[in-house]
Amino acid sequence: MRRIYLDYNATTPADPSVIDAMLPFFDERFGNPGSAHALGREAAEAIARARSQVAALVVCAFEDVYFTGCATEANNLVLFGRAAASDWRGHIVVSAVEHPSVREPARVLANRGIDVTVLPVDETGLADPDDLARAIRPDTIVVSIMHANNETGTIQPVAELAAVCRERDIPFHSDCSQSAGKIPVDLSAWGADFATFAGHKVYVPKGIGVLARRTETPLVPMLHGGGPGTRSARRHRERAVHRRDRARIRARGGIDAQRARSLASAERPAAHGARRGGRRIERSSGAAVAEHAQHFVSGSRRRRHPCKGARSSCGNRRGLP
Ligand SMILES: Cc1ncc(COP(=O)(O)O)c(C=O)c1O
Repeated sequence: MRRIYLDYNATTPADPSVIDAMLPFFDERFGNPGSAHALGREAAEAIARARSQVAALVVCAFEDVYFTGCATEANNLVLFGRAAASDWRGHIVVSAVEHPSVREPARVLANRGIDVTVLPVDETGLADPDDLARAIRPDTIVVSIMHANNETGTIQPVAELAAVCRERDIPFHSDCSQSAGKIPVDLSAWGADFATFAGHKVYVPKGIGVLARRTETPLVPMLHGGGPGTRSARRHRERAVHRRDRARIRARGGIDAQRARSLASAERPAAHGARRGGRRIERSSGAAVAEHAQHFVSGSRRRRHPCKGARSSCGNRRGLP
């Protein structure tokens, strides 16, 4: 019997060109990107190239493409990362039609004391920017509204929703798992701060997601000790590869002209929340982890963290990460 697969919004097969590009890294070019030797450098260069390509696709700065294991992880990272960066206080807005990978972390955060507003949608599944403007509060730490819905296909007016947030200096995230690769996704044009992507929806094998961050909005990582960055290591070497690739894209006339122009100007705009004293990702997390590590290495069996309740560089005011 011949099978016809019609469920491409659930997942796609890996494209042969993607498999070809990946295969050498399973055996011949298997280096650890953190290693200083040639094999390691090759792996780091390959990651940098992939990061560059994602940045070009979604129009954000190269530095702010975080590879994750899936879109679910990216969505969790943005909600928990914002909550941690805001000392586990504040208010979150999510739409009523988000994927469970946004709804569930929001519910867990609500149980931990964060206020959550679920923004209603109309009969076609659309969120109204005026409703969003009414829902936002001065202590809103992130608004998360998906680009395209996985069940209805409704496409949200993300540029308008992001504009509402931008006017009020509130970070805006959009889950673009269902839209990337099908319709244009342009974080710079929207003025969005974060966006999520799922590799397996666009002919990439399972196990690869992305959280893109366009601005320097603080986000505390969920994984510690793996290298600098929110999810995975980013190295200076990668930047050189990125600069080369960006020059090549420009020389070729771009991915398309407008996108290349946006990309060229996709600097990292200032952080939301800078005025509210939010912490930057890498520097603060390094300090926090060092302090946590010291606490545990010293053999203390106390459940209570020494910094709990205190304002310290550790940043841990409500328990351990
Ligand atoms: C809109 C949306 N967000 C997130 C996800 C989760 O993707 P992943 O399987 O990569 O965790 C899906 C998957 O179906 C989705 O459709």
